[in-house]
Amino acid sequence: MEKKITVLPGDGIGPEVVEATTNILDEVAEQFGHTFTYEYADIGGIALDREGVPLPDKTVETCRESDGVLLGAVGGPKWDENPGHLRPEAGLLGIRKQLELFANLRPVAGHESLNTSSSLKEEVINGVDLMIVRELTGGLYFGEPKERREEGGEEAVVDTLSYKRSEIERIVRRAFDLAKVRKKHVTSVDKANVLESSRLWREIADEVSEDYPDVTLEHMLVDNAAMQLIRDPKQFDVVVTENMFGDILSDEASVLTGSLGMLPSASIGSDSPGLYEPVHGSAPDIAGEGKANPLATIASAGMMLKYSFGMIAEATAIDEAIQQVLSNGFRTGDIAKPGEKILSTDEMTAEVVKALQTAAAKS
Ligand code: IPM
Ligand code: MN
Repeated sequence: MEKKITVLPGDGIGPEVVEATTNILDEVAEQFGHTFTYEYADIGGIALDREGVPLPDKTVETCRESDGVLLGAVGGPKWDENPGHLRPEAGLLGIRKQLELFANLRPVAGHESLNTSSSLKEEVINGVDLMIVRELTGGLYFGEPKERREEGGEEAVVDTLSYKRSEIERIVRRAFDLAKVRKKHVTSVDKANVLESSRLWREIADEVSEDYPDVTLEHMLVDNAAMQLIRDPKQFDVVVTENMFGDILSDEASVLTGSLGMLPSASIGSDSPGLYEPVHGSAPDIAGEGKANPLATIASAGMMLKYSFGMIAEATAIDEAIQQVLSNGFRTGDIAKPGEKILSTDEMTAEVVKALQTAAAKS
């Protein structure tokens, strides 16, 4: 197959982890007889510097014309004082919205060899395998009004949590579809004891569940979910929730895998190409030093192969190569224990390439 991939390196460690990942994609292409071509475009702070906006139209066009989008990370202290619409993050939110990527899939699976690098007890996280399905184009992130205003002569501010029925229904449905081919359990997370939006969310989840008799649905309040996630994470299979709740819970869930540097994500819509990015940010403190953990971005590319290209064997090869390097004891700084040898981004990437090659030679 021939696939056109738009690459958006972005800021901070973004360019480093994305470069590592195209190396892995090249190796996979060679092994499986595919051709991947890359088209690079700007997003975030780099786009602000070069073109004055965080998401140039040209970038959106390039994304639309491709089969999948690979993104590094956006943001950094340089642009922190910018107004909201000129922050790097506005580029990321913009591309999600423009491509209508309403479903953000964040799988959280423990790697046995990393269990001891988590701050949680080994017996709590051993065997964790859950998927956070975060609504990505609505809710508190996008609701209007969203502004500073004056009320009674005083400075005031408003953000809005709003959803249309169709927006809730499609994300809940996505979660049930995923659960069907996993452990057949959906936890719908809301704050229905306080928020009207959550009460509608709950109603719709109940309705949708009737179409999926073999999947069990559980409702959980978000505060309790935050607690259950670290108390007993193995109770979860698919977790579906509002944009902001999903943002917070997925960072929390990363602790279950030992590091935020391990979590991949896929943002999927209905017709547009999917966007694949690590959950971690741009880590400006280590940018350019070759210290970044590339595994989350590499795993995100694996998700692209699976969800956008239907390349199941290829995606599995990537996942297994990641497992292999971890079992072999290779570590970047974020997942190394005191005294363990620390690999650079390039060295870690080379180990993943080697693991891919070794696996191919065996089969
Ligand atoms: C994420 C990030 C983004 C978000 C930021 C950078 C806008 O935290 O992808 O989780 O809040 O969605
Ligand atoms: Mn986040």
